Amino acid sequence: TGRFTLDPGFTSTASCESKITYIDGDQGTLLYRGYPIEQLAEHGDFLESCYLLLYGELPTRAEKDDFVHRVTYHTMIHDQMSSFFKGYRRDAHPMAVMTGTVGALSSFYHDSTDISDPHLRMVASLRMIAKMPTIAAMAYKYHVGQPFVYPRNDLDYASNFLHMCFAVPCEDYKVNPVLARAMDRIFILHADHEQNASTSTVRLAGSSGANPFACIAAGIACLWGPSHGGANEAALNMLSEIGSVDRIPEYVARAKDKNDPFRLMGFGHRVYKNYDPRARIMQKTCHEVLAELGHQDDPLLEVAMELEKVALTDPYFVDKKLYPNIDFYSGITLRALGFPTTMFTVLFALARTVGWIAQWKEMIEDPSQRIGRPRQLYTGYAERDYQPIDQRR
Ligand code: CMC
Repeated sequence: TGRFTLDPGFTSTASCESKITYIDGDQGTLLYRGYPIEQLAEHGDFLESCYLLLYGELPTRAEKDDFVHRVTYHTMIHDQMSSFFKGYRRDAHPMAVMTGTVGALSSFYHDSTDISDPHLRMVASLRMIAKMPTIAAMAYKYHVGQPFVYPRNDLDYASNFLHMCFAVPCEDYKVNPVLARAMDRIFILHADHEQNASTSTVRLAGSSGANPFACIAAGIACLWGPSHGGANEAALNMLSEIGSVDRIPEYVARAKDKNDPFRLMGFGHRVYKNYDPRARIMQKTCHEVLAELGHQDDPLLEVAMELEKVALTDPYFVDKKLYPNIDFYSGITLRALGFPTTMFTVLFALARTVGWIAQWKEMIEDPSQRIGRPRQLYTGYAERDYQPIDQRR
């Protein structure tokens, strides 16, 4: 049994080589293809980051226009998928709908499941980036019992998504550009994060040669877990439970108590042992959204800011290097944008799709790629003889 090294949670094993995303947890650095996340979020847009993650370079204007055109071309889903959707129970969780529907894309688009052809690989990639907002918005509409809204290809990626979610028949809906910019920034911040659990799941599923739609569905299933994609929902629930600043000391004391399993949700990160760079941008975006909507005095924001202040100065959090992570402010922001908490992980999946695809493509295109096959340290019985049933005790 001693031939393999045990590494639970893969804290010290690199599962692959990758040129896509770099994280320096001690410095609080996140780079997509070498570019700092702060610069991409400040100056770029989501589709530009998608191009960068997929192709390795920022696009020229002509390349960007062509890419936007190609993504836009694929935003519709086959009309038969609407009937497929209607098979879900009306109270189905949108993540259940996402897992099922994205997996089913391979049955609707089997012309792009041949992974040996680079052109078809790109078609499948574009299809997923383009259709994910449509499917996510349909999951939302189904959830709230409203009719589906078709994509509007004259709108940018984030505006089109907000339109599909919030436009209702017989009412004039105009996308607020400040909110659309915030949505776009949230997508950029979530686009990739190297070999996290869901990305590793996509790579492992893809290593067997499974089609890309099935691999992304596997990633969505993994993301659904509360330790991964579900943390922003937990952070928002915690802020609501705290409710007012005078109750913060009580919760901080609980978080520090070794005998209490309670943790401050939205604090701490496996990799970032300095400030999570995404959290800083998320905090700014949160303020912008609340100011635009006139919600600056949102009591949850007040609790969040005070809690952050306390935690950043309290020796327990300082010594353990527990800083706010991206999920700390994203819950408040998404709620202000109008999304129910059940949609939070769906939005994460939508944004992370490009990262999953870029990582899947990188793996498929690596000539040294082999099927993922982890080994184990066996701790069960040594060989023993079969017992007839009437001799067993
Ligand atoms: N509140 C209070 N204490 C904490 C917290 C917290 N949020 N996080 C870690 N600690 C303590 C923990 O009790 C432990 O103390 P000790 O050394 O005395 O036993 C120490 O800090 C190290 O914790 P750990 O669990 O070994 O650290 P980890 O790297 O395994 O876990 C984490 C990282 C994110 C799971 C954890 O910090 C946590 O549970 N945070 C709250 C949940 C959360 O916000 N998750 C979102 C992560 S960001 C999502 C993403 O990037 O996709």
